[in-house]
Amino acid sequence: MRKTELIGMARDSLNHARAGTITQADDVLRVPASIYYAPERWQRELDRVFRRLPLMVSTSAELPAAGDYKAMNAAGVPVLLIRGAQGNVKAYINSCAHRGAQIMDEGRGHARRFTCPYHAWSYNTAGELTHIYCASDFGAIDKSRYGLVPLPCLERSGLVWVITNPSSNLDIPTFLSGYDSALAHFDFADWHYFGSRCIEGPDWKIAYDGYLDFYHLPILHKETFGADTSNKALYYSWGPHQHVKSPQTTEMHLGALDETDWPTALLLSGVWTVFPHVSIASFGEDGERRGVLISQLFPGDTPGTSYTVQHYLLQRAPDKAGQTAAAEQFKLLGYIVEAEDYATGLKQQACLQSGAREHILFGRNEAGGQNFHRWLQTILDTEDAHLNDLFASADPP
Ligand code: FES
Ligand SMILES: [Fe+2]
Repeated sequence: MRKTELIGMARDSLNHARAGTITQADDVLRVPASIYYAPERWQRELDRVFRRLPLMVSTSAELPAAGDYKAMNAAGVPVLLIRGAQGNVKAYINSCAHRGAQIMDEGRGHARRFTCPYHAWSYNTAGELTHIYCASDFGAIDKSRYGLVPLPCLERSGLVWVITNPSSNLDIPTFLSGYDSALAHFDFADWHYFGSRCIEGPDWKIAYDGYLDFYHLPILHKETFGADTSNKALYYSWGPHQHVKSPQTTEMHLGALDETDWPTALLLSGVWTVFPHVSIASFGEDGERRGVLISQLFPGDTPGTSYTVQHYLLQRAPDKAGQTAAAEQFKLLGYIVEAEDYATGLKQQACLQSGAREHILFGRNEAGGQNFHRWLQTILDTEDAHLNDLFASADPP
């Protein structure tokens, strides 16, 4: 995507800010409350969303060099990402060919060999089985047939997508619908990885609804973001992926500048959501203090639970003062999400599970939540054979 398209969104936002308007959805949307707790629905989301669609599992900054790896649990599937000798990231199921044990503990690191803790079979950075412990005792097998099981994987725009189903034929670029080229303006591949934490929360959709929602900002976050924070939002879509921008923040002064001088950092301000489970929120102007909070949401082990991995990235490696400022900012964002958003969400979860309401509402000012729930339902209703066509067609549901 060219910068002119970012400028187009900023211009639209500026026009709305001047007029005091937003683009409203056609109508108020009713969503059944049971989608947030019914076990069958939860299982269907695991099967048809988290184990079928590409998930944005990592930033490139987490594994910058050949031999760097990241082991993680992606909605119940143990995934091992390895940057190979050629510099590209590949994804595997983190399970040994011998008797299936998990090879690497969750976390990041650097290795030339990946050795299973059970009987010390080992694999190289290309996922090939290279060593069998006491091979002559074990008996002859064709090692070339017992490498790690590869998963469909794509690294684009400094981010890594993986499909946790090894036999999927879903085309990841088609699913991205051009959104990756919008995200490319961040240049994430060159950013500095600052740190991460994990926060437990309610059903992943209750949590995710909040990232698409600016309506609550001056209310729920009055003590932190402030009561004068704008509650207005504009939504821009690429397939199921959405950018959320407030029309009443930083753009007002752009009117005095030539459009070509509008700074990219400002043009990227707001929230960028990657369907189905990631939010990228950017903070600060170009330079050392500019950071993004990348939140990856996953369903928990049971309906009504989720966990969110928050990653904090900085545009540049910080000096000592920058390090302190980034630590404070990251701590504050953790507090806001855990003590304000998810604390409210956990109580909302209990209220919905009480069965008191048949449906909940997304207003005409909450088009992002409306788009999200429509796309989610459409994907749940789409058979495997038609998934590529769904994302290839430009029409939203
Ligand atoms: S299960 Fe991995 S070496 Fe035995
Ligand atoms: Fe919030």
